[in-house]
This record gives sequence, structure tokens and C-alpha cells, in this order.
Amino acid sequence: MQGKERMKNEPSVQENYMPADRIEKKASQVGEELLLQDRQLSALMSGSKAALSQRLEKALIDLENTQTQLIQSEKMASLGQLAAGVAHEINNPTGFISSNLKTLADYQADLMHLVAQYRAFKNAFKDKDGDVPIEALGAMIPQIEAVEKEIDIDFVCKDIDELIGECREGTVRIKKIVDDLKHFAHPGQDKVQDTDINRELESTLSVVNNELKYKAKVIKELNPIPIIKANPQQLNQVFVNILVNAVQAIDNCGEIRIVTQQVDGHAQIRISDTGCGIPQENLSKIFDAFFTTKAVGKGTGLGMNIVYQIIKKHRGDIRVESRVGEGTTFTVSLPVGPSQDPGQSPG
Ligand SMILES: Nc1ncnc2c1ncn2[C@@H]1O[C@H](COP(=O)(O)OP(=O)(O)OP(=O)(O)O)[C@@H](O)[C@H]1O
Ligand SMILES: [Mg+2]
Repeated sequence: MQGKERMKNEPSVQENYMPADRIEKKASQVGEELLLQDRQLSALMSGSKAALSQRLEKALIDLENTQTQLIQSEKMASLGQLAAGVAHEINNPTGFISSNLKTLADYQADLMHLVAQYRAFKNAFKDKDGDVPIEALGAMIPQIEAVEKEIDIDFVCKDIDELIGECREGTVRIKKIVDDLKHFAHPGQDKVQDTDINRELESTLSVVNNELKYKAKVIKELNPIPIIKANPQQLNQVFVNILVNAVQAIDNCGEIRIVTQQVDGHAQIRISDTGCGIPQENLSKIFDAFFTTKAVGKGTGLGMNIVYQIIKKHRGDIRVESRVGEGTTFTVSLPVGPSQDPGQSPG
């Protein structure tokens, strides 16, 4: 039935008939229209392609900027923490130097009292051909000895030596911390340069010492490795992040071992701890941004992600081995040679 109706509605052959010249004209009209549409379509396509690639480029720049800001804020946060530690490290020697100076001032007063006795004796002795009789001179000696005893001259002389020695050691410590801090921060030198990894590790250790010393014994085995082209500020950020994680993984007291050596054209830095270790299922996640197992407010989960980015920028490699309850080792390898160019610091 339906078929019949359709047949009824279909135009007859007569109605469909069109002369050949009209068909040709129609066909060329359709062809032109198609061509026009095709041109419009490809113009649209190329326009949208350009727009798309522009948007992609912008998204990429935005992403890089966000990454830079993240690295910068992570760096600021860790610098704030380190600054407090360094202040403490400087405060300690400053404290005992100032206390020693006070004791030295007391000793100086005692010594001046004794010197006054010596001077009186010397003047009297000079005058011995004059008015002062020899007996009077002799009588002055017990007075001098009494003062020597009163001030405990033997102890004072010995203690002065010790106090001055401690002050010297304190100023050397302060100077070292300040030098290391300056070296660590590389002010105004946030760029690729000849870098002595062992020296960078020494200055980083000095700056993070206050974070480590209460929980970890630090063992260094810094073997000779060639100077490499790197951004030392960034490498120090890597070392700080790994070291702080290491000490945070240690419950009461443990060990952090740092070994450097040259292996197959690479400078290798191994940092091991005897901390809690990382469960197998987390090993693949620790370099992800914002992955943290630490309490809210304690960890942002950015430390290792930044480490990873910096090492990649240096065309290096980082590996992790860990056993729960035994500890963790991070192995960083950086190429030795002139080819790497990690560029300006992201932060
Ligand atoms: N040495 C380590 N021992 C045990 N777990 C570790 C160690 N290093 C990293 N981790 C694990 O990897 C996670 C991610 O580390 P990451 O440094 O990125 O972040 P975080 O330390 O949690 O926070 P922050 O951003 O303050 O560094 C840690 O939360 C921890 O679970
Ligand atoms: Mg961390």
C-alpha cells in the first residue's frame, strides 16, 4: 500500500525530463557552488587551524607560567624554612661569643687590678735608691701574691686561651655559614655556569644542617667528579628537597648518606636515608605534582615534582629505590659535558 502511494507521488519520467544543455548548465552551476563551498570550508578550516594552534600556544605559555610560579613559590617556601634554620645556626655561635666576651671583660678587670700591683712594685723598685726602703719592697710581694690568688691567675690565664679559641671557632663557623649561604643562593647568578657539584652539596648541607642534625647523622662520601655545566641554584633546590624528604622520613634518629662519583660520563649523586621507605604502589606517584602522604599543611607534594623538572631540564635522570621500613635511595645522574643547557632558572 505504502509502496503504491510512493509510486503515485513519484514524478513521472516525463516530469523528470531535462534537456542535455540544461543539465550541463545546472551541473556547472552546482560544480561552481561546490567549489565555492569548498573554498569557504578550507578558509574556515585553515582559519580555525590557526586559531586552534594560537589557543594551544597560549595554553602552553599559561601552563609554563603556572609551572614557573609553582616552582618559585615552592622555592620561596623552602627558603623561608631554611632561613629560619640558618638564623638558628648563626645564633648559636653568636650566643657563646657574646657570653665569652662578657667573661673576658671580667678577667680583664681582674688583670688590670693585678697590673696595678705590678706597676706599683715596679715604680717602688725604680725608686729603691730613693725613699722606699728595701723592706717595704719586700712587703709588697705578698700583696701581689694575694691578688694573684684572689683572681686565680693560673685559671684565668688558661681560661682566656680557651675563651679566645672558642670565639675564633665561632667566628669561623659564622663565616662559613654566611659564605655557604651566599654560595647556596648564588645571588645574581641564576644561570648555567661551571658547577662543582661537591661544593654545591657542601653549601646545601651547611644551609640545611639545622633541619637534619637533630634526627640524622650525615655521612658524606664526596668523590672527585668533573665540573659540569649546570644551574647551581636549581641543583641546590634539588638537593634541599631530597634531603628534607629524607630527614622527614626518619622517625627518631637515622642516617643520611650522600655519595658522589663519576659513572659512565655522568656525575652521579646518591642520597640514601634510613627512613620509613616508600610503599611500592606510591613509587610511581612521588614525582607527580601534589602527591603527598604528609599531613595537611605539612607537605604540598611539590618537592619531588620540582626535582624531576629540574633534572629533566639538565638532561639528567633520577631514579628511586625504596624498601618500606628500611629506607630510600635517590640516584641523580647529570651528564658531564658541554652539551646541556637547562636555561634560566624557572624560579
Ligand atoms: N626519602 C623519602 N622517604 C619516604 N618517602 C618519601 C621520600 N621522599 C619522598 N617521599 C614520598 O613522596 C611524597 C612526595 O614528596 P614531595 O617532596 O614531592 O612532597 P612532600 O614532601 O609531601 O611535600 P613538599 O611539597 O613539602 O615537599 C612524600 O609525601 C612521601 O610520601
Ligand atoms: Mg618534600
